[in-house]
This record gives sequence, C-alpha cells and structure tokens, in this order.
Amino acid sequence: MLRTHHCNELQKDHIGQEITLCGWVHRRRDHGGIIFIDLRDRYGLTQIVFDPEINTEAHHIGEGLRSEYAIQITGKVRARLEGMTNKKMDTGEIEIEVHAITIFSTAKTPPFEIDQDHEVREDLRLEYRYLDLRREHMAKNLQLRCEMTSWIRDFFTKRDFLDIETPILVKGTPEGSREYLVPSRLHPGEFFVLPQSPQQLKQLLMVSGVDKYFQIARCFRDEDQRGDRQPEFTQFEIEMSFCEQEDILQMIEVCFQEMTKKFSPEKKVSENFPRLTWQKAMEEYGSDKPDIRFDLRFSDISEAAKTSGFGIFEKSPFLFALPAPKKYGTLTRKDIDELTDLARQHGAGGLAWLRIGEESGPVAKNSTPEFLKYVQETTKTEEGDLVFFGASTDFIKAVEPLGAVRSALGDQFGLKNADEFAYLWVTDFPLFEKNKEGEVGAVHHPFTRPAKEDESLEKPLEAKSIAYDIILNGVELGGGSLRIHEEKLQKKIFELLGISPEDAQNRFGHLLKAFEYGCPPHGGIAMGLDRVIMLFAEVENIREVIPFPKNQSAQDLMLGAPSPMPENQVEEMGIQILKEEE
Ligand code: AMO
Repeated sequence: MLRTHHCNELQKDHIGQEITLCGWVHRRRDHGGIIFIDLRDRYGLTQIVFDPEINTEAHHIGEGLRSEYAIQITGKVRARLEGMTNKKMDTGEIEIEVHAITIFSTAKTPPFEIDQDHEVREDLRLEYRYLDLRREHMAKNLQLRCEMTSWIRDFFTKRDFLDIETPILVKGTPEGSREYLVPSRLHPGEFFVLPQSPQQLKQLLMVSGVDKYFQIARCFRDEDQRGDRQPEFTQFEIEMSFCEQEDILQMIEVCFQEMTKKFSPEKKVSENFPRLTWQKAMEEYGSDKPDIRFDLRFSDISEAAKTSGFGIFEKSPFLFALPAPKKYGTLTRKDIDELTDLARQHGAGGLAWLRIGEESGPVAKNSTPEFLKYVQETTKTEEGDLVFFGASTDFIKAVEPLGAVRSALGDQFGLKNADEFAYLWVTDFPLFEKNKEGEVGAVHHPFTRPAKEDESLEKPLEAKSIAYDIILNGVELGGGSLRIHEEKLQKKIFELLGISPEDAQNRFGHLLKAFEYGCPPHGGIAMGLDRVIMLFAEVENIREVIPFPKNQSAQDLMLGAPSPMPENQVEEMGIQILKEEE
C-alpha cells in the first residue's frame, strides 16, 4: 500500500512514529508561514502541518496545494499544542509534521464545495456524482448500504435460504409495469427484457426443489419517477416452499426487529407489528400504507349521509369523516384551501369541512342539527375542532383523497414522531381491481393466490387474495403473497385478466408447463432495499442511498445515458429509428 495508516486512525499512542498517509486536500489554512491541511479519505480527517523550519522543500510544495489535490505525505505524528486539540475529530489530539510530499494529481476547483454540507443542485450532484460521493454524508450512506446489505444476506443465509442469481436478460411477460427492452442481434426483431423482479424465476426455483430462495436482486421498471422510485432498483427477496402466510410474516418481522436493533437502536418499535386488513386500512386511514405513528382516523358515517340534509352527502353512498382537533394546531382558510387542492390532486371533486360549533362553510349551513351532532359524537370532536369529509359514489374515491389530507395533517401538526419506527402489516388485499379503462387487473400480480374462501372465483372483483405488504412510517417497504401452484387455477386467473389461452401459453407457458411437474405450494415477499436503507439513513429520497441513480427523467447525468448509438450498431439489431417529424 502507498500508506501506512488511513486518515481516521492516528491517536496519541502513535506519537513519535514516522507514518505515510494518502488522501485529498480537504481544507487548507495558512498561519503565518505554517500551512495546516486537513487530509481526507473515506475514513476521516487528519491534520497535517507544513513548517518551513522543519522541511523547506515540503513546505514549498505545500504552498501550492489546493482543494481536492490527491496527495501522499510522510511525516512524524506529534501531539497538538495545548488548546489546539479538537474533540470533534477522531484524530483531534495529534497532527503530522510533514517531511515529504508527493502530489498524485492536481484538481480543478470542484463545481461545489466538498468540505461543506451545503444544499447543492441535484443535477449538478448527479453529473459529478464521483465528487458528490466524496461528501461526508454520502460516504456515510454508502457505508450504511454496504453494512445493511451484508447483514441482510447473513440473516437469510443463516436461515438456510440459498442465495441464487437469476438472469437479467429474460422474456417479456408484463406483470404490471412497463419493461425495458433489449434487442437481440442474433435474432433480429426479437427482444429480451430486463426483469421487473425475479418473480417467475423464483417460483420456478420452487419447482426445482430449492425450498428456500433468497437474492439481492436488481430490478428494472420503465415507470414514472418519484422520490421513492427508480427505474433501476434493488430488492431483497425470498421465496419458500411448503409455507403459510404466517411463516413469511413472522420471519420478516424478526428480520426488521433485529435490523432495527442493529442499525437504528434508538428508534421506538412496537413488540409485535400491528396488522390491518386492506379494507380496514382504507376505511380508517384512506391508504394501503398508512403512517400509524399518529392516530387520526376516519369514521364511516355513510349511513347517516342519507338524511344529512346536505345534497352532496345524500347522493354519496360512501361518506367518511376525519377529525383535525384544534389541540394539534389551528388551520386557517389558506390551509384548508391547500388541503382542498391536495384532495383534488388525489381525485376528489373538493373537500367538504366543518368547524364544530360554527356556522361557516356549506356543510354547517346545509346539514340538519341531528347530523351535525352525530358527526361531533362519532368523531369525538369538540367546539373549534375541524372535521374533513370524503364523499363519493365510489369507496376508493371517498377514502383516498381524505387519506392524503390525513398524511398532510400529520406533517402540518408535527405528529410524525421521528424517534419512532411504526411497522405495520397490511393483509387481505383484493385480488383484482378495475383500471380507468374498466379493464380488470391484478392488484399484486397474476401469480397471487386467492383467499381460500374465494378460490371458486365466482365474484372475481370481490375476491380477496393472500397478499401482504410491510409498511414503515407510511412507506411501503415490501410486498408478497402466497402463489398459485395449480395449473388450472393459474389458467383461470389469466382468463379473468383477459389473457387468452394462446396468449397465456405464449407469455407464461414456461410456468404453466412447470406446474405440470409437481409444484409445491409456495409463497414469498420482496422488500425494496433502497427504500429500507432510505428510512434507516433518515433521508427523504432513495437517490441519496443509491451510488449512481437516475434523475427524475430516468437519465444518468454522469454517463449521459441513454444516448444515441452508432447507426450501424442499431441496424445490426434489425432496428430502424423513425425520425421525429420536424
Ligand atoms: P412489488 O412490485 O410490490 O413486488 O415490489 C416489492 C418492493 O420493491 C420496491 N419497489 C421499488 N423500489 C424502488 N423503485 C421502484 N421503481 C420500485 N418498485 C418497487 C418497493 C416494493 O414494496 N415480485 C413481487 C414480490 C413478491 O411477490 O414476492 C414484487 O416485485 O419497496
């Protein structure tokens, strides 16, 4: 090695030793001829001193040093002078008197300061990611990611899960999201796709008798970007044979309990993770991933709506009320307008509200006194408290916008306790849902098992599934299900999804064929590794814990990808690019 120690290592015990360090010039101070430099590497900082009276030549070179030069120094460890020690620095009691220096590389002035924790424009950070990763908080995130990943691998391999790599070039069988296509040169006109998840392969591994599979798997989805989504992301995921839902839930619960103890021991975690059915989560919180750190909950007042006296409510078979008690804070008309906009963004026509004991607003003005009294009693509110309403002819449209309002109130009232990790299981998801075009789609994916009592699939849209999500502080960490292992049932599900037998054979023939050869009952789950690390690192965006993420437009600004390819290379693939019309 070109060094004897790293930059966070030297202590009082090393005083008097001749050592060599390598690193980057972090900060430089000139004190009347003596030059002080904080030398930085991944591990930390060490103060080095160029004194013309000790070594003129080294001092002369030291004068020319600038931020981010990569250097090597050799010198003697010495105690810092009285009053000059720095308790905030691990190496704050010593410094190095430099005897020799080599400059490996000079550096241009970086586009942002590495030695400060200033906010920097994200596009600049992403373009110069290699410099961004030099910053302390990013280096810490990389370290945490490595430690957590290795801990997770250990957790599952210790429990007999086989860590198996599945291919990245696979067959296109859309399961939900849009896939990234990879043209095949040897088979012009044909494509591989990048896997959205190893779902079908892990199921095929169960047919192989692998019994317990585990992988830290890269997944690819060509979908719109958000703070907790990336086109390329990582899952840690498992599949087990001969298991029941309970086996998976309990093991994953132990995993997160232990992970929290190890990596965020200061967080408050409940002893057993609460469980909510999807129906209850939607009815009480308006979300399938509620943040249960705060207890604002809806009341279902659909029955009373019919005789409320208020036209909009009377026409709504679904009416839910959300209290916003004044003990948490006072909401102004401007706040209410902003919440109304939020409800609209989530598909509501507006946001009806009522201030208990006051006559302002359409609900108070138009409703019967009995209804108003009923609302107050049901929501357990007092004079001056606000109540928001979600009303619709459609259940989801009544609860979801109100769920968004609830989450915003949690932020506004400061109810999301940063010291708590509120894990939650949401179970019993519906098997199917209808999209905007009225087409039936799988809520989880087409391989998810219907609940035992719904296996006949007589009323598909009312059928529940054996699917579960794990939530932490309002973020979906992971989801899974028990799977269908019977060819007949799987074919039936494809049929209900509008996939013709020929199409099913074309897209999923491999799975149906495998089911003919003794498929064990099986199930599994996948957690978003980036999301888990994001929450443990206490950052707002998964890009903070991904070394080289894509930006909001799904581009890599550092590499400049995606990019046009030479025409001959594209032609070789049998592809012709249509020029956009001017
Ligand atoms: P699902 O699609 O729910 O399930 O994904 C599981 C978890 O992966 C994470 N995730 C993402 N993270 C970042 N960016 C994305 N674009 C993204 N999409 C998903 C989430 C999510 O909870 N095969 C099934 C799992 C199974 O049934 O075993 C699957 O992939 O944290």
